[in-house]
Amino acid sequence: MDPISKNCEQNEGEGQTLEKTHQNFEEFLSTLPRDCGWTPHLDRYLYQGCWYNLFFLKGVIAAQRHFKAQPTDIFLCSVPKSGTTWLKALAFAIVTRKKYSDLSSHPLLSTMPHECIPFLEADFTNRTTTEFPLISTHIPYHSLPKSIISSGCKIVYILRDPKDAFVSLWHFLRKLTPKGVTYISLQEALDLFCKGISFNGPHWDHVISYWKARIEAPQRVLFLVYEKMRNDPLPSVKKLADFIGYPFSLEEENGGCLQKIVDLCSFENLSNVDVNRKGKHRPGAPVAIDNNAYFRNGTIGDWRSHLTPEMAERLDHITKEKFGGAGLPLYVSDMGRNTLDEAGVSLK
Ligand code: A3P
Repeated sequence: MDPISKNCEQNEGEGQTLEKTHQNFEEFLSTLPRDCGWTPHLDRYLYQGCWYNLFFLKGVIAAQRHFKAQPTDIFLCSVPKSGTTWLKALAFAIVTRKKYSDLSSHPLLSTMPHECIPFLEADFTNRTTTEFPLISTHIPYHSLPKSIISSGCKIVYILRDPKDAFVSLWHFLRKLTPKGVTYISLQEALDLFCKGISFNGPHWDHVISYWKARIEAPQRVLFLVYEKMRNDPLPSVKKLADFIGYPFSLEEENGGCLQKIVDLCSFENLSNVDVNRKGKHRPGAPVAIDNNAYFRNGTIGDWRSHLTPEMAERLDHITKEKFGGAGLPLYVSDMGRNTLDEAGVSLK
C-alpha cells in the first residue's frame, strides 16, 4: 500500500476514534455554527473561524491533536482554488527531479498532483513517513498544528485574485454537487462568499493569516502569486526551489531543467494527460472527485466572463478593505498592477 493510502486509512480510523473518544462529539458539533448554503447536501461548520465540511473538520481536529511535524517538512498552503494543484505539481517535480530525470515517464504524467503530495487534514493524522518532505493544507495559519510552527517548518503560500478564486470555486463545487441536487446561483454564492462562508473561508482571513506569519518570519514563509506565475513562471519557480532548499544549479539551469519542469507542470500539459482528464481523486472516499475538476481553464481574469461590474466591485471592495488593512500590497488596485516585488517587499 502506498504511504498516501495508508494515511487515508488512518484518517478514517482517526475519524471513528474521534467520534468514540470524543463522547460529546455530536454535542460539540451542535455548538458550531453550521451552514449548507453552497452545498445543500453537505453541512459546513465554523471551527476556529474557518468553514469546513465534516470530513475535513475531523481531519483538522485530528491533525491538531496528533500531527508531529519534522523541521524538514515543507508545507504548501492555500485557500482553495488559488493554484494548489499547480503548486503541488511544481514542488513535487522540483524535489524529485534527480529521481525522475526521465521526464517522459514522470509520475505527474500518470498520477494527479494531489495524489503525489498528501493533504494534512485529509490524508494523514498520526505522523507516518512520507517519501518526500512535502505536505499540503488548506488550514488557515492560526489553526495549524502547533508543531508546524514550533518546528520552524518552511511554508509556501499561493494566492490569487479573490474574484477568480471565487468563480473557480463556484464551478468546482457545482461539479461536486450530486445530480438531482439544486446548485446555487452565482449571485447566491457571492452573497455567501462575501459573508465569509465558503470552502475554508472567509477567503480573505485565510490569506491574511499567512500574510501576518510572513511579516513575522519572512525567512519561513514564501508568498507566490498565481497571476505572476502564470504570466512568467520561471522566476517564481526558481524562487520556490531556492526557498524549499532544492535550488537549481547553474548547470541545471543552462541545461534547461527549470524550463522543462515549468513545461511539465503547465496547465496546458497537465490538464491534457489522461489521468487528469478521466481519473478520480480519492476514489471510494466520501469526497471522491473527478480529477478534471481541478483543471478548468487556468485563465487570469476569467471572472470577467461571469461577474457583473457590481459583483466584481463588491469583491474588490472587501479585498481593498481587508488586504489593504493588513498591509498586503496585492489586488488592492487594478488586478495585476500590484505585486509584492513592486511594493518593495522582498520575497526572499
Ligand atoms: P480555474 O477554475 O480558474 O481554471 P486549486 O488547485 O487551488 O484547486 O485551484 C484550481 C485552479 O487552478 C483552477 O482555476 C485550475 O484550472 C487552475 N490550475 C490547475 N492546474 C494548473 C496549472 N498547472 N497551471 C495553472 N493553473 C492551474
